Amino acid sequence: MPINIKDIQAPIAQEMKEFEQKFRKSMKTDVMLLDQIMRYIIHRKGKQIRPTFVFLSAGMNGQITEATHRGAALIELLHTATLVHDDVVDDSNYRRGFFSINALWKNKIAVLVGDYLLSRGLLLSVDNEDFDLLKLVSTAVKEMSEGELLQIEKARKLNISEEIYYDVIRQKTASLIASCCAVGAASAGVDKDLIEKNRLLGEKIGMAFQIKDDLFDYGDEEIGKPTGIDIKEKKLTLPLIYTLNNASRSERNHIINLVKRHSNKPAKVQEVISFVKASGGITYTKEVMSTYVNESYQILKEFPDSSYKKALKMLIQYTMERTK
Ligand code: IPE
Ligand code: IPE
Ligand code: MG
Ligand code: MG
Repeated sequence: MPINIKDIQAPIAQEMKEFEQKFRKSMKTDVMLLDQIMRYIIHRKGKQIRPTFVFLSAGMNGQITEATHRGAALIELLHTATLVHDDVVDDSNYRRGFFSINALWKNKIAVLVGDYLLSRGLLLSVDNEDFDLLKLVSTAVKEMSEGELLQIEKARKLNISEEIYYDVIRQKTASLIASCCAVGAASAGVDKDLIEKNRLLGEKIGMAFQIKDDLFDYGDEEIGKPTGIDIKEKKLTLPLIYTLNNASRSERNHIINLVKRHSNKPAKVQEVISFVKASGGITYTKEVMSTYVNESYQILKEFPDSSYKKALKMLIQYTMERTK
């Protein structure tokens, strides 16, 4: 039976309810166009994995506080901002099962909407003097931009090693999930060493989370956003990196040529995907994902038992088994 996110959220059901209200309030604006877009975003909400991490980490480390609530809203605001920008960057027209902001309102507006969400997140923290939380999250946002740019730099040259891939995903995705766990712990008032342990836990989970996302791109399941888009954008992820590193010279040149010059042709993208599958690229990638999941379980073991810890364990499993 697939894990249901609602079951994971059972110990924090009340908090998630309050979160929804606060999140909505934190996006309020008098500008009609912007308000219309904010309502659209609230209506098509995502899985809310990140606030779930924030609340569960706070609970596991002590107590959920008002600061935990603001931390969760801050992170979901920044996450939403980066998705709106990411769909501009990736030229993607589909998100959370419907049109992306850039698809409906064009790039110009999508860029400004992303900036607006980012600024509302910053203000939420500054107005409440949550400087410790803001520092943790700002570091993550800085790394996200660096990760995305590193990815673009490598996409141009098409020579990315496994090590660089791990650097990219650590920065662009794992850092924010790491900050969720760190913010949760910090909002519960624990010391620096314990915050760091939580951060590392989130980082391991975040690595697995992005690897799973990259695997989705090779599938043809309905996940609420386009698949096959990474190759089209010349984004080299682990399945293809592994395949290229283990192919013969001529195969390698052929595949690189397809990605470089023909990635706008669906049949050629399909050829690359089939080759990756036949080369064991998917199997290998799943193994790497399991390694990160196991590392995160090892860290989780060091925390005292609680309903929150149990839910976090389920959430880690969900990261690997999720269908969207
Ligand atoms: C998408 O994150 C961006 C990645 C880091 C892969 P999610 O899969 O958590 O997106 P939503 O919020 O549920 O739409
Ligand atoms: C996710 O990368 C990283 C960020 C959104 C910062 P992707 O480009 O793979 O994410 P999706 O697949 O569009 O959600
Ligand atoms: Mg994208
Ligand atoms: Mg993706």
